[in-house]
Amino acid sequence: MGQFDNKTVIVTGGALGIGGAASLAFAREGGSVTVMDVNTLAGAATVAKMAGLPGRGLFVEADAGTSEGCRKTVDATVEAFGGVDILFNNVGIQPAASYMNAVDLPEEMWDRIIDVNLKSRFLMAKYCIPHMRRAGGGVIISSASVQGLQSMPGVSAYAASKGGDLSLMRQLSLDFAADNIRVLAVNPGTIETPMVKAAAEAAGEDIGQALKSYGKDHPLGRVGQPEEIAEVVLFLASDRASFMTGESVTVDGGMMAKGAWAGGAGADID
Ligand SMILES: NC(=O)c1ccc[n+]([C@@H]2O[C@H](COP(=O)([O-])OP(=O)(O)OC[C@H]3O[C@@H](n4cnc5c(N)ncnc54)[C@H](O)[C@@H]3O)[C@@H](O)[C@H]2O)c1
Repeated sequence: MGQFDNKTVIVTGGALGIGGAASLAFAREGGSVTVMDVNTLAGAATVAKMAGLPGRGLFVEADAGTSEGCRKTVDATVEAFGGVDILFNNVGIQPAASYMNAVDLPEEMWDRIIDVNLKSRFLMAKYCIPHMRRAGGGVIISSASVQGLQSMPGVSAYAASKGGDLSLMRQLSLDFAADNIRVLAVNPGTIETPMVKAAAEAAGEDIGQALKSYGKDHPLGRVGQPEEIAEVVLFLASDRASFMTGESVTVDGGMMAKGAWAGGAGADID
């Protein structure tokens, strides 16, 4: 018996990285999983991996930063699986070309990051919640970030999107608690995904060295793996978290526990 037998799950940006790990984890637990992604090859490959698992998969090629893409994903899910029980609002972008201050950041880049990282949360919730209400409840979980809690130079749009994600999560939890819809978020630290590797590559860094160096910012002395975020997402989506809503869980190897004056806890771990 899987934890998510008879449950339908949508994972936005579900092909690779944290979304890919979560898609497979839900399918391992019997879920019917829609992988929504712009990457056709990777999306099809992730769904193909579900063939040997208890759950089943559907790939929908769609852009989460558009209303049409979000609506199409929900419609295809309802047609294939009959409803939506769990929405993992995971998709996010942080293009290397966006690392600059607000004066220099092109307005189009701001709009794109906000559309994909934040507006998609609103759109997917808007289209999924009517189906959750019909089913008597549901769970919505966001991939927010430690960057929604604290900040760094050169990331104005990404920071705003992650702060907005957390704020929207809290707000939605109030509007839909009476419908038995729980709304939550995870705040990952640095996780070894294509996004992080691409950022290292764009900065001209050796990926292995960069991951080691990012790891030193985390008291546990390493970066996280996508599966370690997926574990927490599955817990939040399950009935074991039945009294949790309107809250985020930080999964960052201790990074947010550390003050700037704390020195290099983890820094000596190689
Ligand atoms: N990796 C980290 O260190 C980290 C840390 C904190 C928060 N996060 C957040 O976690 C989420 C996942 O991050 P990741 O590192 O796994 O990212 P990733 O770039 O490795 O994977 C993202 C997936 O989303 C897809 N995607 C990109 N744009 C899309 C769009 N417009 N529509 C549909 N799909 C799209 C990509 O093809 C890919 O499959 C993001 O919201 C990110 O901001 C990541």
